[in-house]
Amino acid sequence: MSLLDAVRGCTFDDFLFTPQLGVLPSRDPAVVDLSARFSEHLTLKRPIVSANMDTVTRAAMATVLAEEGGIGVIDRGFRAGDIDPQVAEVAAVKRRQHGVVGDPHSIGPDRTIGDALRMMADTGVGTLTVVGPGRRLVGLLTERDVRFVRPEVKVSERMTPRERLVVHEGPIPLAEAEQVMISKKIKKLPLVDRDGALVGLVTARDLIKHQRLPFATRDEGGRLRVAAAIGATGDYLERAAEVLKVGADALVVDIAHGHSNVMEKALKEIRRRFPEVELVAGNVATGEGTTFLIERGVNAVKVGIGPGGGCSTRITTNFGIAQVEALVRCRLAAGDRVPLIADGGIKRDGSIAEALLFGGDSVMLGSAFAGTDEAPGEIVLKSVLDSESQKIVKVPFKVFRGMASIGAVRDRLDLEEAAPGELEALGAEGIEVSVPARGSARTVVRDMLKHLCSAISYGGAASLHELRSRFWAQPDQYVVKLSAASRSESFQR
Ligand code: XMP
Repeated sequence: MSLLDAVRGCTFDDFLFTPQLGVLPSRDPAVVDLSARFSEHLTLKRPIVSANMDTVTRAAMATVLAEEGGIGVIDRGFRAGDIDPQVAEVAAVKRRQHGVVGDPHSIGPDRTIGDALRMMADTGVGTLTVVGPGRRLVGLLTERDVRFVRPEVKVSERMTPRERLVVHEGPIPLAEAEQVMISKKIKKLPLVDRDGALVGLVTARDLIKHQRLPFATRDEGGRLRVAAAIGATGDYLERAAEVLKVGADALVVDIAHGHSNVMEKALKEIRRRFPEVELVAGNVATGEGTTFLIERGVNAVKVGIGPGGGCSTRITTNFGIAQVEALVRCRLAAGDRVPLIADGGIKRDGSIAEALLFGGDSVMLGSAFAGTDEAPGEIVLKSVLDSESQKIVKVPFKVFRGMASIGAVRDRLDLEEAAPGELEALGAEGIEVSVPARGSARTVVRDMLKHLCSAISYGGAASLHELRSRFWAQPDQYVVKLSAASRSESFQR
């Protein structure tokens, strides 16, 4: 039986995998190669992506995902025409952590300490570079220099002037910058060009962070990578231009039905305006849909119609394909041409291994990150009956909602005043639920990676890449279809 026949109508909880001879010496994610492609030209060391949903991915989530080796996609769920908030989130990720800060926050020498304090508070940066005309470096001003100083005092009176600074001319590899810092006993190394104009700053803090996070997804300049979602109509081209301006590493054209004329038109325009951009599009769930997107120049395809935890598309329209079948169909159509992102329906860590074997190169997760510290939204305390003590206890919750839920659509379209009937006419295809607050997404990702390494060990491979090759060479060696009883034995606890 072909793999496609074996998975028809099936999804994650329909399968187990047969354990093989283990060859992995250690299941430690620090030593197991989990690298995979997010898109044609963008490789991740860990194949985890956070979903572009307004209750999941903003700068905080995208930063954690990139630091842990995955990537976050900043949602476009801001009010229509309101592009700046999304741009600010992308910019915050690109600025948060760097090897070399390419565009350090600067102040003029004639400004006041009051101005410097405000700039430090606004940007969260403790060291300002001081520059004169033509961005010539004239000094450095740190938090220590401004402490207990009257606000009207001039920056030039408190800064460490250029002649007392160690400065490097031109670009510098991080290892060399570290050596300079150690030998000169400094914590900041400004970089200048031949004319003395400021071109960057290396800080000891960033170097330490860089070393502590060896798997982080970074661009050539050492900045964390981040993707940004755009739509296929309305402000999508302007949104694309603006997020790319602040350094977005990929655009994700995300619409509910990606195999559509609307998508075709959008891809044509995007490719015309931004021929080089790393472009992801979706969602689709069929081979035809996948080929359609690839032929129109995308660098990755997002797969999933209706499996999402916040999604009611299948309930309300009866259209969709069970996610494992969708992945196999799309993988068979895509071949090795572009990577696939398996989007939605992952409720337990074991399904991550399934999504990656049945066709995904990476997995996109929404509800799995809901309720974490980095998920946007306020914590609300809810009264819940504790079944053991039979007492009412207050439990912290956060809201998780589908991007096509009435709440999300209402916020996006600025429809607070709309009557319920009008909202229903919009055809909501998402739900809104409260999920318990539960600590950092970093812990969630790290647990997922440990479990993925264990899956690789059970699968008889030494890396994710090898496991996928072995699986596709002989799927029947792995795939076990479950009966209702074996499903309950496997997954009900
Ligand atoms: P999980 O299961 O990880 O899925 O929460 C995340 C994915 O769900 C999709 N999504 C939606 N699909 N209506 C839909 O049909 C919605 O309102 C909706 N909101 C999110 C999306 O693909 C996301 O990445």
